[in-house]
Amino acid sequence: MTYSSDNSFPRVRLRRNRKSAWIRDLTAQNIFLPSDLILPLFVIEGKNKEEKISHLPDVSRLSIDLIVKKAKEARKLGIPALMLFPALDQKLKSSNGKEAINSKNLMCRAIYEIKNAVPEIGVITDVALDPYTTHGHDGIVDENGYVENDATIEILCQQALVQAQAGCDIIAPSDMMDGRIGIIRDALDDQGFSDVALMSYAVKYASSFYGPFRHAVGSVNNLKKSDKKTYQMDFRNSQEALREVALDVAEGADMIIVKPGMPYLDVVSQVSQNFKLPVIAYQVSGEYAMLKFAAEKGAFDFDAVFYESLTSFKRAGASAVISYGAFEVAKKL
Ligand code: PBG
Repeated sequence: MTYSSDNSFPRVRLRRNRKSAWIRDLTAQNIFLPSDLILPLFVIEGKNKEEKISHLPDVSRLSIDLIVKKAKEARKLGIPALMLFPALDQKLKSSNGKEAINSKNLMCRAIYEIKNAVPEIGVITDVALDPYTTHGHDGIVDENGYVENDATIEILCQQALVQAQAGCDIIAPSDMMDGRIGIIRDALDDQGFSDVALMSYAVKYASSFYGPFRHAVGSVNNLKKSDKKTYQMDFRNSQEALREVALDVAEGADMIIVKPGMPYLDVVSQVSQNFKLPVIAYQVSGEYAMLKFAAEKGAFDFDAVFYESLTSFKRAGASAVISYGAFEVAKKL
């Protein structure tokens, strides 16, 4: 007996594996689940308060009581974790961002209330000074407006400690100072918080896709024309991303964030192939807004493009995705 050894068309037909829904399901390599989502939330003072964010359709700033409610619903939908960002009253902002280390600040009260009411949801907190500074930068600035690395790390450590004391599960430093992961790790361990994990924004580019977020936390007017290019990465580079990750891994990071997400899938892919730790992709505010606004104009169906965009992160090797659409999509998955 013989058979044709010709492994090309017409003998080979890739459409056989696409013939019906069941075979496509059977052969699918990546499936996006609610457990792959992290839901970012903006916290404000007050009671029963919800403020729409015009730059981020269907996303609101919420007072702590409403955040707690949201946390309960998110957990029911299968979302494992929340990520919190405070939107502070301008009066509480200062040049050194000292409100960040007040153990009774908005962030700490939110952490405490969420963990008290919904202990089964993970709480991830942002470490950086931009929501607290009058200049909108992530750190302390000198007289020339340069963000000082080592002085900033000292205050970031204290910020991490007040958040850990309030009960957060994971600290996510988004400031991009050199050396902060190792120093924050030591500070947490010294104070008995060895179980608090570090999700490092190891790869964070100086990106214009952060625009809507800066409106949401109110840092946009403070930053004015200034940018963050002396500490966030240059988007022309990808080798540097691998160096950033290598350093943060050596310093003790438990997980790595790559940010932004969609325009940087090459970086997500390289990091996940080169390192054996979870890689989290951040689909940032501008990416979410882009899809929402285009869908509002009738360019495409939001649910369909959104699910497709989330799946692309998994294909690139991400373990999870931080996205403003997490709640909405989890309801539909
Ligand atoms: C700042 C911070 C930013 C984001 C998260 N943390 C913006 C910035 O660096 O100016 C952006 C998130 C987004 O755009 O969704 N520490």
